Amino acid sequence: MDQLQRPRRLRYDPRLRNMVRETRMNKSSLIYPLFVQEGNNITQEISAMPGQFRYSVDTLPYELERVAKAGVSSVMLFGIPEKKDELASGAWAEDGIVQKALKMAKQEFPNLYYITDVCLCEYTSHGHCGMLCGHEVDNDATLPVLAKTALSHVQAGSDMVAPSDMMDGRVSAIRTLLDKNGFSSIPILSYAVKYSSSFYGPFRTAADSAPSFGDRKSYQMDYHNKKEAIKEAQLDLEEGADLLMVKPALSYLDVIQTVEQKFDVPVAAYSVSGEYAMIKAAAQKGWIDEASIVCETAASIYRAGADILLTYYAKELAQYMAEGR
Ligand code: PBG
Ligand code: ZN
Repeated sequence: MDQLQRPRRLRYDPRLRNMVRETRMNKSSLIYPLFVQEGNNITQEISAMPGQFRYSVDTLPYELERVAKAGVSSVMLFGIPEKKDELASGAWAEDGIVQKALKMAKQEFPNLYYITDVCLCEYTSHGHCGMLCGHEVDNDATLPVLAKTALSHVQAGSDMVAPSDMMDGRVSAIRTLLDKNGFSSIPILSYAVKYSSSFYGPFRTAADSAPSFGDRKSYQMDYHNKKEAIKEAQLDLEEGADLLMVKPALSYLDVIQTVEQKFDVPVAAYSVSGEYAMIKAAAQKGWIDEASIVCETAASIYRAGADILLTYYAKELAQYMAEGR
């Protein structure tokens, strides 16, 4: 056969395949989400997320040790307080669960980089991400509470704050308060493009943060929309966000690509709890090969344009990446 172009020529030899690989994944881009709760001696497996656990402050160091050993350099902390109230007071309390965990973790594992999720849904009695006015989430009344929460995280040692509430103007409110308190060098990773998604289901059981009525559709985005993603990202950058996040990841690869191409800041993608649960469940049934699927899905997210990947598979992925998978 007389054919000049033979794409297969680059595929025969595994060394050459690796040489011409277009998407290279590095473990320095991984962030591992972790749940910390009140109490003692707790290592409680999350029912819809086999292999993921809720830790108390005293057991968290064992997990941080495993994270560091796996070669993952950054974690995202979520807190589950003892009690919830209308004011989400556990979110910004000096001795709140995230604040306590941070103080311990920074002391014992100063080499890890600590990002904290800034939201109120784990701390409100009603489970919504903001202050209520009747049955509506009151945008502007929520802003000072979010800012106060972010400041308290930073005062406890957080290296970066990540607001996930989807209120309008929260990045600006957080930036202003941090700067006023001398924290102008603390970056904000905005969950700028966060869709209202059923993929968060397992997380809400894990964090005990499902809304007690209604849903989050009045603040999180409608998954039929993409132009709106550009608008959200644009606004958050104007308000002072340093990095942008798209969430969930797998069903939103087109959105990751668009955001990456339009904006000159690092883009993070969050492969959320439901994505983890689907892979884990099928793997446990023996229907798919877990490691291969984890690598293939991660590669798809990076290929779409993500610079950073938040994933419950971070520890495993760090190893697969080191193996060049
Ligand atoms: C808090 C928050 C959620 C997630 C991250 N931050 C839940 C939600 O918005 O309902 C989801 C993470 C996951 O599903 O893994 N607002
Ligand atoms: Zn929330």
